[in-house]
Amino acid sequence: MLEVVNLRSAYGRIEVLHGVNLSVRAGEVVALIGSNGAGKTTLLRALSGVQPITGGEITFLGERIDRLPPHRRVQRGMTQSPEGRQVFGPLTVQDNLRLGAYMRRDKEIDSDRDLVFEMFPVLAEKRHQLAGGLSGGQQQMLAIGRALMGKPKLLLLDEPSLGLSPTLVDQILEAIVALRSKSVTVLLVEQNASAALEIADRGYVLETGKVAFEGSGTTLLSDPKVKAAYLGAA
Ligand SMILES: Nc1ncnc2c1ncn2[C@@H]1O[C@H](COP(=O)(O)OP(=O)(O)O)[C@@H](O)[C@H]1O
Ligand SMILES: [Mg+2]
Repeated sequence: MLEVVNLRSAYGRIEVLHGVNLSVRAGEVVALIGSNGAGKTTLLRALSGVQPITGGEITFLGERIDRLPPHRRVQRGMTQSPEGRQVFGPLTVQDNLRLGAYMRRDKEIDSDRDLVFEMFPVLAEKRHQLAGGLSGGQQQMLAIGRALMGKPKLLLLDEPSLGLSPTLVDQILEAIVALRSKSVTVLLVEQNASAALEIADRGYVLETGKVAFEGSGTTLLSDPKVKAAYLGAA
C-alpha cells in the first residue's frame, strides 16, 4: 500500500531524515517507534505532504504521490491524526468531524460520522460542544475521528496516546485494533513503544533519521537491543 524509498527531509540546511526506507502492506498495523527527536513526526508530515522532502520517493497504492499537495493525498486515501491533536477548538465536535470530510463528495459522510460516534460514544454525547472544552483524551478521539472522516485507506497516527491516562490509552489502542478489522491500514507513531509493538503486525525503529531496526512486533519486543534502548528493560 505504501512504499517509502530513501526519503530525505530537512529543516533549512539541517537534514533530519537521512534516507528512510519503509513499507506498509494493506491490512497491517505498523508501529514506528524511536526516541524524541528521531524524526517520526517529520516522516509522517512528509508522507502527508505538509513537510517538504529533499529526496526519495513515496508510492501509495502503486502511484508516486510525493509531488502531490496534501489535499490530493487525502483524496487518494491517506489521512493523518497529527501530534498534539490540533483540533479546531472554537468549533463544535460535529463541525470538526465535518471538516475531516471536506474533500469528499459521496453520500456516506453521515453514516461514517455515525461509525465514529459508535467507536467513541463520548463524541456523540458532546457533538454540540466546542472541541476546545474537551479533555485531552476526548480531543485525541476527535482527532482520530476527524482523520477517519476522510475515509482513509491508510491512517497515519502521531502519538495518539500522548498525555492520556492508562485507561484511555487502552481505549485508544483497542480502537486502533478495531480499525484493522474494518480494513483501515494504520501507521502508528508511539512513544509508548511496548504497547504499540504489542498491537502491531510489524514495526520500525527510527534512530536519528534512519531506520535502525525492523521486524514483526514480537521480534522487536524480544530483541535485546530494542529492549534495552526503547522498552525500558535490560
Ligand atoms: N520546525 C522545526 N524546525 C527545525 N527543526 C525541527 C522542527 N521540527 C523538528 N525539528 C527537528 O527535527 C528532528 C526530528 O524531529 P521530529 O520529527 O519532531 O521527531 P520525533 O517526532 O521523532 O520526536 C529533531 O532534531 C527536531 O529538533
Ligand atoms: Mg513527534
